[in-house]
Amino acid sequence: MVGAPVTATLPATWYADEAVLAAERERIFARAWQWVGRIDQLPQPGAFFAAEAGHVPVVVTRGRDDVLRAFVNVCRHRGHLVAEGEGCRGTLQCPYHAWTYDLDGRLRRAPRSEHEPDFDPAEWSLLPVAVDRWGPLVFVNPDPDAAPLAETLGELPDLLAGAGVDMGVLAFRRRVEWSQAANWKVGIENYLECYHCAVAHPGLSKVIDVAYGAYQLDAHPTFSVQRGPLKDGAAPWDTGGQVSRAQWQWLWPNLTINVEPGPQNLSVDLWLPDGAGRLRGVTDYFFGPDCADADAEAIIAFSQQTGAEDQGLVESVQRGLASGMVSHGRLLESSERLVAHFQRMVRDALA
Ligand code: FES
Ligand SMILES: [Fe+2]
Repeated sequence: MVGAPVTATLPATWYADEAVLAAERERIFARAWQWVGRIDQLPQPGAFFAAEAGHVPVVVTRGRDDVLRAFVNVCRHRGHLVAEGEGCRGTLQCPYHAWTYDLDGRLRRAPRSEHEPDFDPAEWSLLPVAVDRWGPLVFVNPDPDAAPLAETLGELPDLLAGAGVDMGVLAFRRRVEWSQAANWKVGIENYLECYHCAVAHPGLSKVIDVAYGAYQLDAHPTFSVQRGPLKDGAAPWDTGGQVSRAQWQWLWPNLTINVEPGPQNLSVDLWLPDGAGRLRGVTDYFFGPDCADADAEAIIAFSQQTGAEDQGLVESVQRGLASGMVSHGRLLESSERLVAHFQRMVRDALA
């Protein structure tokens, strides 16, 4: 995009071209911290769960020594995925030929390898990746030498604490899996502006002031934050609750974090590329222990409604971009600053 005006969007081809996705895998997803699951999925030593960091299958373990570790979830024998789902078995056994790994990644047993004179199990450990956590959220970076997660999070934990969110008390309540016929960036970009809210989200616009000037967009080096003042009588939210405001965060590259006013609550959405023109999503909802089921359900229903309204938008954008007939669009800096920020980061990563 050399020479393109700063308000130009990324080229439309970047949303439909498998070669661009291949570059994103290498330059973005193979080296970024990504949310993969929850600490409650590892309730005791010996537990594990399988997940994906972008295109990289990973397995997160809690060893018998109680240490959190993560590995590329690919068998060193011939590449079958080693672990599936989650559980507590003390070892990981590949279902193909039963190579068995310790939860610290070491190959413990490879049937018939005793007949191979030069077979050294120490050379065939699972490949380690970086792992860390923030409250109940577990993150993995496929790059084992990655800088600490805290560097990517930056001031984000402080900003959530400032809104009244206590990561220490949040407990998982519900997972929702979803998919969209859209490039992962289309999904993120739609999340990053509320220019469309007045038109597309009548329910949200009734309770949040989405007007120009009222709605706040703040870009940080690795994340961004949106805040919309609540309108008076903003049901379904309890504006006198522990969390004082609605705040929507995006964290590089593909995690969004939603905080609604009222009881202790937080939800995270993961936007996983599934080919250039599709994405798979996972949303986990967390609430404080004293949040009544009815209040939790109201927050979940409200967010699901907004998500359903967005689905048609992003899928239509994908069809438009994939037509190849319009080379790029034009961003409004005042209302789409965070989209521009995201696109700048993608452009820099791929440069
Ligand atoms: S591929 Fe895992 S044991 Fe053969
Ligand atoms: Fe939306």
